Amino acid sequence: MKISIVGTGYVGLVTGACFAEIGHDVLCVDNDDAKIERLKTLDMPIYEEGLEELVTRHVDAGRLRFSISIEEGTHYAQVIFIAVGTPPGSQGQADMSYVERVGREVAQHMSDYRLLVEKSTVPVNTGKQLKRTIEKYSKADIPFDIASNPEFLREGRAIRDALNPDRIVIGVETERAGSILGELYEPIVRRSGCELLVMDIASAELTKHASNSFLAMKISFINAVSRVCELTGADIERVAHGMGLDKRIGPSFLKAGVGYGGSCFPKDVDAFVRIADEVGYDFAILKCVQAINKDQRKRLMQKLQEELWVVAEKTIAILGLAFKPGTDDIREAPSLYFAEKLLEAKAHLRLWDPVANAKFAACYPAPAYFTDPVECVRGADAAVLLTDWPQLKALDLAKVKAAMACPIVIDGRNLFDPADMAARGFTYHCVGR
Ligand SMILES: NC(=O)c1ccc[n+]([C@@H]2O[C@H](COP(=O)([O-])OP(=O)(O)OC[C@H]3O[C@@H](n4cnc5c(N)ncnc54)[C@H](O)[C@@H]3O)[C@@H](O)[C@H]2O)c1
Repeated sequence: MKISIVGTGYVGLVTGACFAEIGHDVLCVDNDDAKIERLKTLDMPIYEEGLEELVTRHVDAGRLRFSISIEEGTHYAQVIFIAVGTPPGSQGQADMSYVERVGREVAQHMSDYRLLVEKSTVPVNTGKQLKRTIEKYSKADIPFDIASNPEFLREGRAIRDALNPDRIVIGVETERAGSILGELYEPIVRRSGCELLVMDIASAELTKHASNSFLAMKISFINAVSRVCELTGADIERVAHGMGLDKRIGPSFLKAGVGYGGSCFPKDVDAFVRIADEVGYDFAILKCVQAINKDQRKRLMQKLQEELWVVAEKTIAILGLAFKPGTDDIREAPSLYFAEKLLEAKAHLRLWDPVANAKFAACYPAPAYFTDPVECVRGADAAVLLTDWPQLKALDLAKVKAAMACPIVIDGRNLFDPADMAARGFTYHCVGR
């Protein structure tokens, strides 16, 4: 089947490559000329394990192409996925201008039946707005359908998730749309054995915001428990392990730490709170989730400040810039908060990440960047660990201690055992232990 994807960012590119992998012919469109030029030369704009190899294979096979023309994308395929950004607006609401623009442009170029599929994470009832937009801007009375197909992939394991999802959610209004998407996803359903859920568009849209908000709630819940642990002498790692073995709870997303970041959870929780407010429901539990998350990073910063007394002129190493391992995505990463606050306080920063240095340097060019974590901590008065990269877990702690001016470690990911760190001579602060 031929498929167009408008928006070739994290989701659009991974989705396009994975659709090609299951045998479809894919045209990925983006209005960022530089990005499309890079992709045409097989230079990946993001780091995601296995992506370069997958894209290269399918470009070489002629199954995956890139274009800056939405007109070409509209003519190329009957099915057009919308995978543009839905960033937070000034009041926490999702900025729908990118999605709306794609709707308008597709409508202007449509000459035959088209199925527009929302892949971007959108507020409930976006489908209705998109339908109105297409009706308003299409030149003639051309038949079309709208569908919702929210994306649940996780950065850092995006390809595995896209090809082996826990479920595929499809929201449609017509049998025609349902059967096109059923056919499109058949190879993934066959391979992975996952369920394909067909529902109405609003329910599909809401499933995505509700899922992300629930996961964020699990993280904030365990972070709140970690605070009680700190006040009582209990150990959050033991508590989380004890909770997670209960099958009704499950172990995932029960890791206490510096709080969630990334391009999805913060904005999706904000948007969900806002949507609920707009329809007259005060989603108080999610407001607490937001507050706990903000507080978590402040609390770690406070531990650092208390250790250093005066931050100005101190050299601080930040280990881990990506919001999570396996990606170079730094959107809403805790590292941005620490860099901003520490630079404001006139600290000298030394920064390390295995893949995100370049993206971080685009925001903060002045600090020193390192490719070796031990070099990064050389001469530092303190090190702050913010991403649970395996390279940090495997650090040679004797070398780290020898390299640092003061062996103070603030660990936002609970990578080490506090007793062991103390025995090695570190002043070690982590979360909930
Ligand atoms: N990143 C994730 O892990 C993830 C997971 C699930 C869902 N989502 C959702 O998917 C959507 C996309 O997220 P992303 O992380 O891929 O964003 P992104 O910023 O990486 O990519 C968006 C792309 O859309 C392009 N674009 C914007 N307007 C355009 C237009 N008019 N025509 C053509 N291209 C246009 C941009 O240039 C950019 O390349 C968001 O709604 C996000 O919430 C993201």
